[in-house]
Amino acid sequence: MSNEEFRLLRDFIHGYCGIYFEETSRFLLENRLARRLKQHGLGRFTEYYHFLKYDKQREEELAAAVDILTTNETYFFREEYQLKALTEEILPEIRERNRAKRTLSIWSAGCSTGEEPYTIAMLLLEQGIWSDWKVDIFGSDISQRVLASARKGVYRGNAFRATPEALKGRYFTPEGDGFRIADRVRNWVSFASINLFDSGKTALVGTMDIILCRNVIIYFDQTKKKSVIGMFLGKLADGGFLLLGHSESLINLSTAFTLRHFRHDMVYQKPVHAGAARSET
Ligand SMILES: C[S@@+](CC[C@H](N)C(=O)[O-])C[C@H]1O[C@@H](n2cnc3c(N)ncnc32)[C@H](O)[C@@H]1O
Repeated sequence: MSNEEFRLLRDFIHGYCGIYFEETSRFLLENRLARRLKQHGLGRFTEYYHFLKYDKQREEELAAAVDILTTNETYFFREEYQLKALTEEILPEIRERNRAKRTLSIWSAGCSTGEEPYTIAMLLLEQGIWSDWKVDIFGSDISQRVLASARKGVYRGNAFRATPEALKGRYFTPEGDGFRIADRVRNWVSFASINLFDSGKTALVGTMDIILCRNVIIYFDQTKKKSVIGMFLGKLADGGFLLLGHSESLINLSTAFTLRHFRHDMVYQKPVHAGAARSET
């Protein structure tokens, strides 16, 4: 891959889905895309760039490229302390706020193979107080491959590394060399393919009480991070919460959120209304 080819492909991928390959990740990009060149019998990366940009099969090829360029690492009950803040502190607050309409909407943006939204569904089922509420848990990802796996709902080994045995026994049944998630968990979760930078698609997402976007924006550069955080701000209800991964923060990205200091974790909140923002930062 020449310098020019690297720059063209890197900028194209960045523009499409926010993922930014630094110079240090050049060989990663080259190795992964080399498989696609081979698949199409193309000799040069420039030809592949033109294929991605202009071919009539460009949509399918972009999907295939995204499937191999994204990092999809995830597991059930990831970041336990944050989930404790969610169940013990955030959800009671939303329950109180929404008690008249009895609705709860949660978006797992960048849900990969589904462990994150299914974890939320299990936690809500464990609480046993939501059955007469309209609960929507929505998982989305840009990668079709991971979404197919999420919809299938069969998991193995590593996915369970933080799962309490009792919960595994309650919500999964053995199938082949893995475990299938129970229908009562699956029925609470819906999935859709959404590129977070596709404004046509994100426009279709409704107002959320909670957005989890954990371990997703770390792959974006500053401009794309700002753009996606701005979109989340627009999607959250007043007083809604944004849960990022433990290594992610809004420092230098947005001042529109309040940082709430809960007992178990610190979480970003959209102010209840302008002027009433809590000054806990
Ligand atoms: C490391 S996984 C995180 C999964 C889960 N949120 C967690 O923390 O365990 C990151 C996911 O973000 C998705 N992703 C990356 N860029 C995206 C984009 N532009 N739009 C939507 N999803 C994206 C990837 O496909 C991948 O599945």
